Amino acid sequence: MATIRSVGVVGAGLMGSGIAQVVAQAGYSVVVREVEQRFLDKGISSVEGQLKRAVEKGRMTAQDMAGTLGRMTWTLHLEALKQTDLIIEAIVEDLNTKQELYRALDRLCPPATIFASNTSSLTIMAMAAVTGRADRFAGLHFFNPVPVMKLVEVIRTIRTSEETIRIVYEFAKSLGKEPVRVKDNCGFIVNRLLVPYLLDAIRTLEAGVASVEDIDKAMTLGCAHPMGPFTLVDFVGLDTTYFIANIMFEEYREPRYAPPPLLRKMIMAGYHGRKSGRGFYDYTGPAPVVTDLGL
Ligand code: 3HC
Repeated sequence: MATIRSVGVVGAGLMGSGIAQVVAQAGYSVVVREVEQRFLDKGISSVEGQLKRAVEKGRMTAQDMAGTLGRMTWTLHLEALKQTDLIIEAIVEDLNTKQELYRALDRLCPPATIFASNTSSLTIMAMAAVTGRADRFAGLHFFNPVPVMKLVEVIRTIRTSEETIRIVYEFAKSLGKEPVRVKDNCGFIVNRLLVPYLLDAIRTLEAGVASVEDIDKAMTLGCAHPMGPFTLVDFVGLDTTYFIANIMFEEYREPRYAPPPLLRKMIMAGYHGRKSGRGFYDYTGPAPVVTDLGL
């Protein structure tokens, strides 16, 4: 079985930088590629911040932190990924953009390089199909925050070889994660169940059943969820949730995946959740308070 030694990560956003961090922490060398320097800088400072916090909390030595950072290379050049054994893509959730990237990577990389997408909802086969290596193409779906969440969904398309799945499954385990095997279907396991739940929470609010705070309180105290649905939607991003829901609705044509009007209106208003300072909660003050949506 081929061995993974070096890993390429495309995209240094929330997910890409988190993935790059855990891969480097596990001892692999990592090349992270972004399209603009400011995105790279953001990724670097996020990883440095996470590692510093880990050292302060005694979860990591300063030497391990230096080692982890030393194994990471940050670049604007796709060519820098040429020599890596596995490429994990975590760029914008747009099929055309992803296909364009995979076409370029397919031309650039030797045949043995395995490609894996961290897409949250697109069908993996739709990306594998534009490459000449559909047998060496899988899904590796991580969860936010990547350094904390134990799960990785390992996705096999109808063309992925069993060997490729074994390699990426073992790779996920080597990161200290708990992989699960999933067939290539839109939303895999988690988003297939989670997205309708989050959308239903918004519908419950729209129906005037209860307030944002009380719905969150009900699910944290009643079901022991670490976050209520509105805190979680803010955390994942309203825009991301909206994208995923639309992709799933397009695929399945089932009303449970249809984004509710309130979600759409909030995106139009620029309320993208925690990252934009405001979603169902307002994060601009010392502690989050419920956003006044005039409901
Ligand atoms: N990055 C790295 N570490 C983080 C972190 C972050 N963003 N946020 C928290 N942590 C760490 C903390 O350092 C702390 O570690 P320690 O115990 O060693 O000090 C630990 O996690 C717990 O953090 P806190 O005590 O500050 O806060 P909580 O106990 O509330 O935990 C949480 C925070 C882990 C984010 C928890 O609230 C949680 O599990 N929330 C649900 C997250 C979730 O559902 N994620 C999945 C989203 S769906 C998804 O990603 C799929 C995609 O396709 C949409």
